Amino acid sequence: MTTIERFNEHVMPSYGRYELVLDKGENRTAVDENGREYIDFGSGIGVNSLGYCDEKWVKAVCDQAHKFQHTSNYYYTKVQADFSERLCSITGYSKMFFGNSGAEANECAIKLARKYSFDKYGKGRSIIITLKNSFHGRTLATLSATGQDVFHNYFFPFVGDFVNVEANDTKGLISALDQYKDKVCAVMFECIQGEGGVIPLDEDFVKTIAEGSAKRDILTICDEVQTGVGRTGKFLACEHYGIRPDVVTLAKGLAGGVPIGVCLANEKCCDVLTAGTHGSTFGGNPISCAGGNAVLDRISEEGFLDEVTKKAEYFRKKLAEIPEVSGVDGKGLMLGIRLKTAKASEVCKACLDNGLLILTAKEKLRFLPPLTITYEEIDKGMKILADILK
Ligand SMILES: Cc1ncc(COP(=O)(O)O)c(C=O)c1O
Repeated sequence: MTTIERFNEHVMPSYGRYELVLDKGENRTAVDENGREYIDFGSGIGVNSLGYCDEKWVKAVCDQAHKFQHTSNYYYTKVQADFSERLCSITGYSKMFFGNSGAEANECAIKLARKYSFDKYGKGRSIIITLKNSFHGRTLATLSATGQDVFHNYFFPFVGDFVNVEANDTKGLISALDQYKDKVCAVMFECIQGEGGVIPLDEDFVKTIAEGSAKRDILTICDEVQTGVGRTGKFLACEHYGIRPDVVTLAKGLAGGVPIGVCLANEKCCDVLTAGTHGSTFGGNPISCAGGNAVLDRISEEGFLDEVTKKAEYFRKKLAEIPEVSGVDGKGLMLGIRLKTAKASEVCKACLDNGLLILTAKEKLRFLPPLTITYEEIDKGMKILADILK
């Protein structure tokens, strides 16, 4: 039996997968089990921020595995202290909670917001305003937060008290804040809706979220699971908007390819989750923290994020030059293209057949290359894409 046949016989069919069996990777190139190479413009959906098997990252992870791989959260570890101190210092947040995924990071933010409100105002302020077309994860609470009807199926009943407003509809947002007045504890949003189709929020709208929430003592939760950790050329995408949300969630690229999810909170709400109110057995796994330290080391090297911005401009320009492309959306190395006539899913499959891994988001092609991608690799991948789009 082939790998694919054995896999399908034993793994639940919850994903639509391409017929590709990856065996290894080096830098920005993946290799399948027949030795065929693929330039990677997807980095495992924004996870392999330093590409495959970056030398320093591998060393950090292996050194930690040789020391110890896990301990319960009843004890302290230096690697966790190093990571959290580093992340708080880079982002300017006061404290963080350790989870293992984007959904877990968002679950934590949701619980934190509800408890913040409960502690201060008692019951009744449990509504969280989220945006239509958002994506916040696959657990029941984060699916409920997700503002896309297509996800609100089968698993009834969903978690209550999530109200969706249209992204970039400032009037709609204010009217929801007024309508639900003393019942709202948080507004949750992605600065660029990733799974929703690489759609950036307008600056005015984001400012209205920040100002409208601050006035009413409503927490702002910025889901930076996809946009964070340098992806848009700044460590956090919200920096482009000049706002400081009360809570920020990170995951994906934060530990360079090992599971992690983090919920950061500012001074106002960083002590809300007291002993026993939240937890996760694997949260803060030492190997993940070691991987995270290697990522933070690299991203905070002088000039690294400027280089991401420069490469992103080049990437964007190259995309815009392809005649079949009618528009480029997104920021930094989180880009989506609109196509004139071609179908994104078919182009994605054709790219794979020709040695290039890319992603789709709704009807767009989506690109989340490793932050370390080189100009040569961009050219190489772009040639494959342009030839297909001919
Ligand atoms: C913005 C955003 N939030 C949350 C998630 C969920 O993350 P995870 O799949 O790690 O649970 C994703 C995943 O794509 C995401 O893009």
